[in-house]
Amino acid sequence: MPGPARLVVLVSGSGTNLQALIEAVADPVYGAEILAVGADRDGIAGLERAERAGLPVFVHRVKDHGDRADWDRALTASVAGYEPDLVVTAGFMKILGPGFIEAFAGRIVNTHPALLPSFPGAHGVTDALAYGVRVTGCTVHLVDAGVDTGPIIAQGVVEVHDADHADGGEALQERIKTVERKLLVDVVGRLAREGHRIEDRKVWIPA
Ligand code: GAR
Repeated sequence: MPGPARLVVLVSGSGTNLQALIEAVADPVYGAEILAVGADRDGIAGLERAERAGLPVFVHRVKDHGDRADWDRALTASVAGYEPDLVVTAGFMKILGPGFIEAFAGRIVNTHPALLPSFPGAHGVTDALAYGVRVTGCTVHLVDAGVDTGPIIAQGVVEVHDADHADGGEALQERIKTVERKLLVDVVGRLAREGHRIEDRKVWIPA
């Protein structure tokens, strides 16, 4: 029997997706363990959640490195040190460099708050709202060299209400995040327990 899948999670913010993963891995049946949590900034709730769970944390701020390539090398080395099976970017608001993506190719799982390929980038919720879509949602996908362009694993749909235009998308974001946390936990668990293969942009997880 192989042991639980080894996860490293990267965060930049409140870390509610990380929290959902922390709670999921507490059950041995889930099939995964979190080795460490990394961030691109200090003082965020995501790191506090990790510390509260007794997980090792590391921080690499772009501004502490000579250039972006140096930052990417440092981040890659920190993550590689934990020998992860999967890297989960859960609200990590930096674009990963080519070295990082090559080191963990096909094993980086990202969650995005819109139905890709629509509304990629840092403002998925508000871009979708401003466009006037009637449904939006979240996408869990593998990371490739583009911005939110990698093979899609799963998506969740959330309806847009008229009232969502009144509060700048705050309530919509919370509804998306409720669906997203469940979806991410489900997908990561299936990847951890069953593995996956990628064929012509399709991600297959054995049933
Ligand atoms: C999530 O909704 C995630 O999809 C989004 O940040 C939020 C993080 O929430 N990520 C992006 O927008 C990446 N482009 P959390 O810190 O509470 O998990």
